[in-house]
Amino acid sequence: MIYLDNAATSFHKPKCVKNAVIKAMENLTANPGRSGHKLAQDVAGEIFETRELLKEFFNAKEHQVIFTKNCTEALNIAILGTLKSGDHVVTSVYEHNSVLRPLEFLKTKGVQVTIIEDDLQNFHQVLQQHIMPNTKLVVITSVSNVTGDGCNLQAVGEVCKKNNIIYLVDGAQGCGHVEIDIKKMNIDAIKHSFLDNTQKEKLLEEFELKYKELI
Ligand SMILES: Cc1ncc(COP(=O)(O)O)c(C=O)c1O
Repeated sequence: MIYLDNAATSFHKPKCVKNAVIKAMENLTANPGRSGHKLAQDVAGEIFETRELLKEFFNAKEHQVIFTKNCTEALNIAILGTLKSGDHVVTSVYEHNSVLRPLEFLKTKGVQVTIIEDDLQNFHQVLQQHIMPNTKLVVITSVSNVTGDGCNLQAVGEVCKKNNIIYLVDGAQGCGHVEIDIKKMNIDAIKHSFLDNTQKEKLLEEFELKYKELI
């Protein structure tokens, strides 16, 4: 078989990934942070080490790495927690349903949504024309799950920084394939799944509690 749908939900797993999953199933079955016994401490240790790796991978700080159930949940938390009635958000027509559906919902709550239809490569240029005084969020996919096209993440980050807009990246298809340095690219939040088939271990990186409306 030749299997090409291999970014967000990878079919073939490197041996180290298989081994890590087996190790977790066999040995890491306790609640981290809630018990003092050895099993729980082992799980906490694994989570600590995973967070360290992710910090390095994304050039992030410790408090910026948050684990969620899947990418859809992470995007929903970020989008629904950021926008309220009267806010404006810009996105692209290439977004996954995990972005478009919460935005459709928010339209009914008085949020203004602009969906740019130009090629992803031009998103940063067209974005500038759509910014309004109430633009609070830009949400964009790093790589389209339909066309495979990528977005110029750094250029979008520059526009967001200049206009003081929160910048959320859907990294489901891009992380591990294109460079993502959140500091350099001025990214406020990014979510991704790494070689995941169970749809469980994904992450949201949250910056400076910008989603405090959720709490
Ligand atoms: C671009 C993109 N965003 C978001 C998702 C949602 O990921 P999940 O299935 O982990 O919720 C996918 C899934 O394939 C995707 O391709």
